[in-house]
Amino acid sequence: MKENSCIFTIFGATGDLTKRKLIPALYILYKQKRLPEGCSVVAIGRRKKTSAEYIEEMKNFMVDELQRIVDQNIWAEFSSLITYHEMSFTDDEGYVTLKGLFEKVGKSSNRIYYLAVAPEFFEVIVDKLHGHSMIENKDSWQRVIIEKPFGSNLKTARKLNESITNVIHEDKIFRIDHYLGKEMLQNILSIRFGNSIFEPLWNHSYIDHVQIISTEKLGVASRGAYYENTGIIRDMLQNHILQMLTLIAMEPPVNLEAESIRDEKVKVLRALRQFEKSNIEETFVPGQYGPGNGMPGYRQEDNVDPQSNTDTFIAVKTFIDNFRWGGVPFYIFAGKRMAEKTTKIIIRFKKLPGINFYEGYENTEANVLVIRVQPDEGLFFRINAKNPGNDFAINSVDLDYCQDCGYKGNSPEAYERLILEAMNDNKSLFTRWDELEYSWKFIDSLCKARTAESLIYPNYEAGGKPPAEAVRLIEKDGRKWWREKADEVL
Ligand code: BG6
Repeated sequence: MKENSCIFTIFGATGDLTKRKLIPALYILYKQKRLPEGCSVVAIGRRKKTSAEYIEEMKNFMVDELQRIVDQNIWAEFSSLITYHEMSFTDDEGYVTLKGLFEKVGKSSNRIYYLAVAPEFFEVIVDKLHGHSMIENKDSWQRVIIEKPFGSNLKTARKLNESITNVIHEDKIFRIDHYLGKEMLQNILSIRFGNSIFEPLWNHSYIDHVQIISTEKLGVASRGAYYENTGIIRDMLQNHILQMLTLIAMEPPVNLEAESIRDEKVKVLRALRQFEKSNIEETFVPGQYGPGNGMPGYRQEDNVDPQSNTDTFIAVKTFIDNFRWGGVPFYIFAGKRMAEKTTKIIIRFKKLPGINFYEGYENTEANVLVIRVQPDEGLFFRINAKNPGNDFAINSVDLDYCQDCGYKGNSPEAYERLILEAMNDNKSLFTRWDELEYSWKFIDSLCKARTAESLIYPNYEAGGKPPAEAVRLIEKDGRKWWREKADEVL
């Protein structure tokens, strides 16, 4: 039996995340022979069904909804590892039968408990697992993966963390942020610290500003009830966006150990400028989509209050008050139901002084490095060069690198990587408690400083242009949101 083999136990087996991400990721890992030998899957849900019904449902969802190609033979082998177990998460009886089930289904005594459930169940599940002595077997390992949202503000996150760490050691806790499993986020460290042309310039002397743009075409779909309690600030900014920001801004870690990387990320979060009532107007623009382009507005979505003031869009200007980044604005632009799905990080270098022969070319673009997280993973560096021909005309040229193109095969999906890393006990791609603590502090300062009274929602059309105020936020500083193509709607 492989040391990293385990019974992968999913709480919330019929939920959206399990169907969309976890089962497909486990299937691909199995198909690619990367799932450790001897692994099995116990899928726990509250609905009554047989394992055969569950397996069929998962396969149909992958084929019909996700449009994935499923190899019948491989699926048959893979699905023989899955057992569905019906139980209520709060009911002791269920944990007793679960323990019995483990004996039957798996050869491995290692466990991953994946909590793909609504946050109100995190504490109770961990408590019950502890109560039934299911997370402290010394001859094997047990790990708990916790999905977001981890709390809804600093106070609730602290409380949740305390009750979880009271019964399990931090070493066993894997707080997931799936963006950390994305190929290009992993690549940020190599780009920054693997190229002598970037690192010496990576500071306030040479960088004018940074933009993080993260837009989605999708609305809230069937997640209205969840989204009403989170909004984009807690759903995206507190976690995924701040993770991108810390990777861009952190100091080089002393080595690639999880703790060294996380130490540096925490320092960035600690240096983030907090929002105040006095600076909120010029640093924050919220938004909510209304009907447009044949799509309903947020207030018309299922399980959403028709008067809701939940934000589905934000534009933010923030600073990292440390030596490297003093005075460099970090602009964030994120929204649901925007014109396109894109996540990119833009590093805009400073312009050259308009002297000597640059005088006549004052409109020459500054150098820009764009890290394309998705789609079309890759990056490009915009430089200036002379146009071919007799005239001396300078133009921008993009040195483009497409990450998928050179690599034969699909780059792994975030969840595939994260599941494997949890099995291998590599925590660098998971969030440590103090990262969460400081990110919540930042978010709390924003929520406290903003004034809800002035909201006039909706303020942008589904699938259309962003709120006009968001454009003004950056343009009043003499800068523009990054557009890759002139006709891009930003
Ligand atoms: C999830 C959010 O964490 O990330 C969703 O809850 C969001 O609202 C999603 O759509 C975005 O992830 P990705 O990988 O599609 O960019």
